[in-house]
Amino acid sequence: MTTRILILNGPNLNLLGTRQPEVYGHTSLTDIHQSCTDTAAELGLMIDFRQSNHEGELVDWIQDARHSFDGIILNAGAYTHTSVAIMDAIGSIDTPVLELHLSNIHQRETFRHTSYISKVAFGMICGLGAAGYPLALRAIKARLDAAK
Ligand code: DQA
Repeated sequence: MTTRILILNGPNLNLLGTRQPEVYGHTSLTDIHQSCTDTAAELGLMIDFRQSNHEGELVDWIQDARHSFDGIILNAGAYTHTSVAIMDAIGSIDTPVLELHLSNIHQRETFRHTSYISKVAFGMICGLGAAGYPLALRAIKARLDAAK
């Protein structure tokens, strides 16, 4: 059966390309989606790529993923540093989650050094910009293949 990966993007990531390009680069979320689609085709993965500015919607999608996806790649945006609800949603399902950030959160403000997602994710990629997304797909595929 085809491995299914849910790629979730949190608040303000819809503005990528124009939002603080000195931090997040010039690549839009649409371009990132396309690069994920290309990498998924190369790797034989099925992907669903989504963005939401709403914490509860992200929680709903994570919960629902336990029935319909084999893995989740999550860039929770600012909710990374605040959301016990998203951490608990991930902790409530067996689906493995890979945490992703465009920027190196550990080089930035102190409040970004704490990640609730890291407490429940199997791994984390940060600081590689848009290139982190296709790398995350390769990493989660390797993880799922190894678990087979
Ligand atoms: C981010 C880092 C977060 O601290 C920030 O709030 C974001 C984006 C990243 O991809 O680098 O919105 O998750």
